[in-house]
Amino acid sequence: MCGIVGYIGYRKAYPILIKGLHRLEYRGYDSAGCALVTDGGNLEIYKAKGKVADLEAAADGKDVSGELGIAHTRWATHGAPSTTNAHPHVSMSGDITLVHNGIIENYVTLRTQLEKRGYVFKSQTDTEVLVQLIEFQQKLRNCSLEVAVRYALKLAIGAYAIAVIDKKNPTRLVAARKASPLAIGIGEENKEFFLASDASPIAEYTKQIVYLNDDEVAVIERGKDLHVFTLQGEEATAEVKEVDVDLSMLDKGGYPHFMLKEIFDQPQVLRDCMRGRIVNNIYSSVTGQAHEVSLDVVLSAVSNHRRELLRARRIVIVSCGTSWHAGLIGKQLIEHFCRIPVEVAYASEFRYSDPVVDKDDVVIAISQSGETADTLAAIQLAKEKGAFVYGIVNAVGSSIARNTDTGTYIHVGPEIGVASTKAFTGQVTVLTLFSLALGMMKGTVDQQEYQDVLAELVKIPEKIEVVLKQNDKIKEIAQQYVNCRNFLYLGRGYNYPVALEGALKLKEISYIHAEGYPAAEMKHGPIALIDENMPVVFLTNHHARYQKVISNLQEVISRHGNILAIIHKDDETVKKMVQNYIEVPETISCLSPLVSVIPLQILSYHVAVARGLNVDQPRNLAKSVTVE
Ligand code: AGP
Ligand code: GLU
Repeated sequence: MCGIVGYIGYRKAYPILIKGLHRLEYRGYDSAGCALVTDGGNLEIYKAKGKVADLEAAADGKDVSGELGIAHTRWATHGAPSTTNAHPHVSMSGDITLVHNGIIENYVTLRTQLEKRGYVFKSQTDTEVLVQLIEFQQKLRNCSLEVAVRYALKLAIGAYAIAVIDKKNPTRLVAARKASPLAIGIGEENKEFFLASDASPIAEYTKQIVYLNDDEVAVIERGKDLHVFTLQGEEATAEVKEVDVDLSMLDKGGYPHFMLKEIFDQPQVLRDCMRGRIVNNIYSSVTGQAHEVSLDVVLSAVSNHRRELLRARRIVIVSCGTSWHAGLIGKQLIEHFCRIPVEVAYASEFRYSDPVVDKDDVVIAISQSGETADTLAAIQLAKEKGAFVYGIVNAVGSSIARNTDTGTYIHVGPEIGVASTKAFTGQVTVLTLFSLALGMMKGTVDQQEYQDVLAELVKIPEKIEVVLKQNDKIKEIAQQYVNCRNFLYLGRGYNYPVALEGALKLKEISYIHAEGYPAAEMKHGPIALIDENMPVVFLTNHHARYQKVISNLQEVISRHGNILAIIHKDDETVKKMVQNYIEVPETISCLSPLVSVIPLQILSYHVAVARGLNVDQPRNLAKSVTVE
């Protein structure tokens, strides 16, 4: 998820690596490290928890010579942020060292097998298994580093971008990728090469860049042509691209704001969030001919806590802000698939409400930062009352992750924009997986529905991509609303929390007053506000109650409301009724929030930009609210 930098050539590697890590800081990270093969032929490793500046302090006064090195900024997925867990990781012999971005899904199995063969692990990361496996393969086959890397990667399931060096052979650097990006910059006459997660650390040295494809291994040798191989060992073409990067845009990965970057990150990070958690089961028929493929959810926190979860008389979700909105969707999912009553409480209210909670209750705490003071206090109270506490958190090793009994990380990478976007869709994705896994364990979920929802869930990232392509159209629509003072957001069922979330996004970054309401509740009061000056954002993409939503729409139209409708593609009926519409791909009802929230995020972003506001750091708000 975070950053890799590598260098091999004739200059000092260390300053290039450090500068490169600074360039990748926009991606967010919790620790940093680098490995150098020094002039004396030693492997020197420096690591620090915290910032790249802390790494520089750790290396200060030490040997930072050498023309070969790799470096890393880590965003922890397995094992808390710490110096030991920071990359690079070194093989048992101390010869091979590696940095990795991504997640190795089958690391537990691989680690157990290697431990049986005497390998000793120092960190809690999934990454360390790769470096030990590479060494194991090299010894087993008595082969070169690149061949050992290929064999090791054939055994690894998951996502990776890696850079590997062997101090016994300091003329080469081996790199590989699958589902995590990696770029190689080629210096003049192959005298030097640069490696990085994107072009930003490379651009000032060379414009000749090769982007590795999935399942490719690159062998980078000073003074020689770059060679790229498939995992099977066949030579692949290294397509060199002439890349011109605008250095001023680099700190946000080419986007003008973190918020826009994080909105656009959603397809990829949701794939990361589902990685290893939705598995394919292939059944052969008795004849051995036909295959029937079924999908399954694997959530270790659910299967490891069967007893506590099956005992749940009731579930209470505690959270704040956007995480609370995700909780409202979670309530509908859990009640539908698990038939357990769910309450959703603002953590700040729950903690002082003398709640009726006991040991047969499960409390789910949802938090992006994992540091929200109100949510932490609610967890403490729930634990004192004997409840079993399950965390749904983004920041690995955060206070909430440490204080819950178990939990599932959402794995969407660091969120830097104060307005939460990808964390929301990550939370809803994990809540969907949680409710399906628990429903299956309880026997309350219909088998066919379980399959249908999973098959559709894996398609959601593509559907989000379709919405993102309409960025320009949404930007145009946003211009019409820049000077409005109030907004109403309406939705029903699963889309009611999306209406709340859309309104919160607009309030937070554009400072325009906005309210979210259940569409049918409007006639009990808010309808009095409607006239031609009141924009109404209407989520009509909900099958189950489509006709009822149309009636609610009519009620607004009769009062001359100015409607922006979020509709299913080709919904000609609504198109004719409203001033503006944004089409989103159709999906099943319980997954529709994942698609319909996207245009609302984009809309609020463009309204705020057009108003000239600080989108990433709106006034009065903090990214993690560590005070009451
Ligand atoms: C979301 O856009 C907000 N900035 C805010 O409501 C946030 O969701 C809330 O403070 C909870 O934070 P957490 O998820 O880190 O606990
Ligand atoms: N999964 C690895 C870890 O937790 C790599 C994380 C990253 O991409 O930074 O160390």
